[in-house]
Amino acid sequence: MSNETQREQWGTRWGYILACAGSAVGLGNIWRFPYITGLHGGAAFVLIYVILVFVIGFTVMLAEMAIGRNSQLNAVGAFRKIKGGAWPIVGWMGVTAGFIILSYYGVIGGWTMAYVLKSFTGLMQADAGEAFGSFVTNVPIVIAWQAFFMFVTIYIIYKGIGEGIEKYCRILMPSLFVVLLILIVRAVTLPGAGAGIAYYLKPDFSKLTGGAFGAALGQAFFSLSLGMGCMITYGSYVGKKETLPGAAFQVCFLDTAVAFLAGLVIFPAVFAFGIEPGAGAGLTFITLPNVFGKMPGGMIWSALFFVLLFVAALTSAISLLEVVAAYFIDEMKWSRTKAAWVMGFCIFLLGIPSVLGVAGKLPTLAGRDFLDSADFLASNILLPLGGLFIALFVGWFWTEGAKQEVTNDGTVPFGIYTLWLWACRVVAPIAIAYIFITGLKW
Ligand code: TRP
Repeated sequence: MSNETQREQWGTRWGYILACAGSAVGLGNIWRFPYITGLHGGAAFVLIYVILVFVIGFTVMLAEMAIGRNSQLNAVGAFRKIKGGAWPIVGWMGVTAGFIILSYYGVIGGWTMAYVLKSFTGLMQADAGEAFGSFVTNVPIVIAWQAFFMFVTIYIIYKGIGEGIEKYCRILMPSLFVVLLILIVRAVTLPGAGAGIAYYLKPDFSKLTGGAFGAALGQAFFSLSLGMGCMITYGSYVGKKETLPGAAFQVCFLDTAVAFLAGLVIFPAVFAFGIEPGAGAGLTFITLPNVFGKMPGGMIWSALFFVLLFVAALTSAISLLEVVAAYFIDEMKWSRTKAAWVMGFCIFLLGIPSVLGVAGKLPTLAGRDFLDSADFLASNILLPLGGLFIALFVGWFWTEGAKQEVTNDGTVPFGIYTLWLWACRVVAPIAIAYIFITGLKW
């Protein structure tokens, strides 16, 4: 018997793609994409976004998948095994980013669960702004929901790759899609929905400034779960016979489709009731409940919407925890059970200051509460740096190995290999450096 236990693998290719899509499709798609699209010129922005997803996003995603599949290890171990030197630091930044992002992601995940229930218990009759304010300042309740959300996340990671992540993503992702389609049909058939569609999609090229470009790139990066070794970790469970470029393409496509479609729920609904669209948490937890409250059968629509958000958040949260857990399993030789529960619990604890900050019980730092600061550190610093080094690593330092990996040792053609290589070498690093520098504005 070998002393290394066989690494678990995805059961099917489709299971792998749904798991990656589950990671990618998250709060970023549903509450952030529609909003920044509306802000930056509608269809014109969508066009830029799609180009960036397929030029930069696809490039980095395939680079991560190749590193993961080649090494069959977590984000840190992958760099250690392939090159060593200082490279494992890139993996380290990724594991740290996963830890930080999940800490506040778990808090918002808890809100989504609470709001499914609240849809039926008076949210529709209340003033949504006041309801949200009194909810988030009720610290014990918010922590209880956060704990519940983290518990579900940990449980799925504890169950492993096939019986955990893959099994649940195979159920949850198609459900998400069905719920999304139902909500779109409802939203676009509301009287007055046309104004929302026009706001969302009418191309306005005058709004396509440098700022719009940076926003699109940053959004693409976060939305595709890039820069922290998430796709390295998921890629490490892919068998050697699978082909990677097609998988990367499909994940990019699914993520973009869901982001685009989410806007077809939000804007028609908001405009049909003559409400100004807001941003982020406000749009999702205040504006939309107000809108649902005015609709016949609002409870049902509200509950469905928050189920959608919950599912999107959960399948992303598990990918964040898996990055951290895989590190402790491979490198520290922890059991999966221990890694999932112990690290999940530590991440839950780090989320508590975010809860307190939103409740106004902690001082802010230059106008940012704890949650925003954690998000800034992870999304604006760790992720772009991670992505930058991943692209440079594949483009310049592991060129031949990466070529073998994406072509399965030359046995499968990858027509745009040269383009991809130069995207890794030059285009992606320049673009990412640009997001990094513009994103440093505190
Ligand atoms: N992509 C997810 C979203 O859109 C968030 C996410 C999950 C993520 N895993 C990640 C972001 C890894 C960056 C890196 O909400």
